[in-house]
Order: sequence, then C-alpha cells, then structure tokens
Amino acid sequence: MSSVTSRAIHIAQHGGPEQLQLVQVIVGEPGPGEVRIRHHAVGLNFIDVYQRSGLYPMNLPVQLGMEAAGVIEAVGEGVSHLKVGDRAAYASQPPGSYCEVRVMPAKCVCKLPDGISFETGAAMMLKGLTAQYLLKRTLPQGGLQAGDFVLFHAAAGGVGLIACQWAKALGLRLIATAGSEEKCALALANGAEHAINYRAEDFAARVKEITGGKGVKVVYDSVGKDTWDKSLDCLAPFGLMASFGNASGPVAPFSPGILGTKGSIYVTRQTLFTHIATRESTQAMADDLFDMVLSGKVKIHIAQRYALEDVQQAHKDLEARLTTGCTILTL
Ligand SMILES: NC(=O)c1ccc[n+]([C@@H]2O[C@H](COP(=O)([O-])OP(=O)(O)OC[C@H]3O[C@@H](n4cnc5c(N)ncnc54)[C@H](OP(=O)(O)O)[C@@H]3O)[C@@H](O)[C@H]2O)c1
Repeated sequence: MSSVTSRAIHIAQHGGPEQLQLVQVIVGEPGPGEVRIRHHAVGLNFIDVYQRSGLYPMNLPVQLGMEAAGVIEAVGEGVSHLKVGDRAAYASQPPGSYCEVRVMPAKCVCKLPDGISFETGAAMMLKGLTAQYLLKRTLPQGGLQAGDFVLFHAAAGGVGLIACQWAKALGLRLIATAGSEEKCALALANGAEHAINYRAEDFAARVKEITGGKGVKVVYDSVGKDTWDKSLDCLAPFGLMASFGNASGPVAPFSPGILGTKGSIYVTRQTLFTHIATRESTQAMADDLFDMVLSGKVKIHIAQRYALEDVQQAHKDLEARLTTGCTILTL
C-alpha cells in the first residue's frame, strides 16, 4: 500500500458549505496516463459551489476542486509531456484538487512556465482558459473585430477580471456589469470601457445608450437566471448569447421563437471541458494564456487567500458575492 497521505476536502452529501469536511486520505501510485502532483496552491471556482450544492449532481462521496498548481512527483506509463520535478498546473476533470497531493489524468496537466508562480498558476488555469475560449472561440457570425462591443456580466470576478484585460488586448470594447460601485471601478481599471452596477441600474437600457441603440455582438453571461431576459435585449441583430454559468440559478426553459423576435439571435451554452477534451487543445489554449500572462497583458489578481481547512468560509464568501478576482486555498 502507498505511504503517501494527504489532507483533503470531501463532501459526503450535497448541501451548504458545512458539507465540506477535512479528511485524511491515502494517495496511490499513478496508473497509465496519470501523474501524481504535489500541490503548492489550489484554485477556488464557482463550479465547486455547484458541485457541492448538487446543482451539478456528483457521485458521492467526492473530493472537490478543479484547479491547482504544484510539482510532479510520479509519472505513470505513457505520459511523455511531464517528468518528475516539473512545475505544473491544471484545470481539469475529475474534481479532486482540494488536497495536498493527488493522482490524476495527465492529459489536462500543463508544464507551468518558470515566470509564473504556483499561486498564479493555481488561480488562473480554469478561469484563464475559460476567458480564452470565450473571447477567441465563442464568436458571433463573422467573428469579433477590434472596435466591436461585447457585454460581460460579473466582470469583477475571477473569470471576469481576466476577460476585461484580454478583451482590451484584443481591441474589443467590453461593457462590464458588476454588483457594486467598487466592483465596477475594478472592472474599469482592468480594461472595461464601461461598467454598469446591475444591482442599481437597468443594464439593458444602459447598453442601448452606450452602443447608440445598436446593441452588442456578444453577451457573455455566467449569472444565468437573473440576467438572461435582459441580456437578450442587449444584442444586435444576429448577435450571440453565450451562456456559460448560473451563479444566480439556472436559466428557465424558453421557446426558440423568442430568438427570432429578438433579432435572429444565436444562443450557445459553453463549457470549458469540451474545449480541453484533448491534450493538444488544452496545451494550445494554455500556451495562449501563458503568453498573455508572461507578456503582462493579463495580470492575475489573487484578492483572497484561505487555508485549505478554512474552505467553508471561502465558499460562503464566494456565494455571498464578497470576493473579487481570483481566490486560492493555501496549503
Ligand atoms: N462554462 C464554463 O466553462 C465556465 C468556466 C469557468 C467559470 N464559469 C462560470 O463563470 C462564472 C464566474 O466564475 P468564477 O469562479 O470566476 O466566479 P466569480 O465571478 O468570481 O464569482 C461569481 C460572481 O457572480 C456574480 N453573481 C451574480 N449573481 C449572483 C448570485 N445570485 N450569487 C452569487 N454570485 C452572483 C457575483 O458578482 P457581482 O456581485 O459582481 O454580481 C459573484 O462575485 C460562474 O458562474 C462560473 O460557474 C463557467
């Protein structure tokens, strides 16, 4: 039996943050196509909340967490892109990153460039690869060109602040929404051209005003239930509604007829895991992200740090909209 042990966070049933329990686990040797990685830092993501609550049902018990960075400690048969001692980071299925050391499929684990710290790597992989596929691969008919308006909800959050900077680097005119004046200021400081406090203002009316009545080419919407209807009203004809999350709850079923009356618009629901389904696509997207971070065009803001054993508080704060930028769990 393996003598490697780890502190880890498990849930035995779905529910509130109190379900997150610190346990001690035995970690085995990597099998074919797997690596064992010793984490230096772990990323917190909103998907962890969905998996904990049961919005995304899981086979239980389960070790949560989808993002981390650390050092490769053992390599299974057939893994050629990583070796023992490599610095590495990942956003990946299956969950299990809330721990000190784990065994996992190597496919989504990427070598971390020397110029990027473990904490930054842990904070940015899931959120940065998401910003990458949204702005570079989730496009309206004819693509996005410099000067085009896009609307990005929850723009002061983890994915949001990365997207603000990346959009600016692409020459896009990003209109941000966020839940307070302070969060709006943060989005503006990170490259948004306009910011709307959607808890205080009618964001659809403001978007119409900002775009001279034309609307935006894409709405990137991770808020879901609360923003869906008005987001459709923000789109230019043939625009794209890119839904990628449900922080306020899932979007209600709707009739496709509405897409016609709103201007022959398109709707898509995207998930990162389709984009990183292969080693090649994961590496290509990660290389793009690493370039943006190493060039300084995208800065990763780690605004909150919690010890692994304080993960319940981290979940409470994320759900209560008290966080900005990225959050990591320290070990
Ligand atoms: N599909 C994918 O591939 C993919 C990948 C990564 C992330 N996501 C989604 O993208 C979103 C952002 O992820 P993240 O980890 O970076 O989280 P985050 O943006 O740091 O946190 C979520 C934010 O959503 C906003 N929000 C609006 N209504 C809310 C409500 N009722 N309850 C809680 N939050 C609410 C809050 O910002 P304000 O206070 O400013 O409103 C909150 O800070 C999440 O919905 C996540 O599921 C999807």
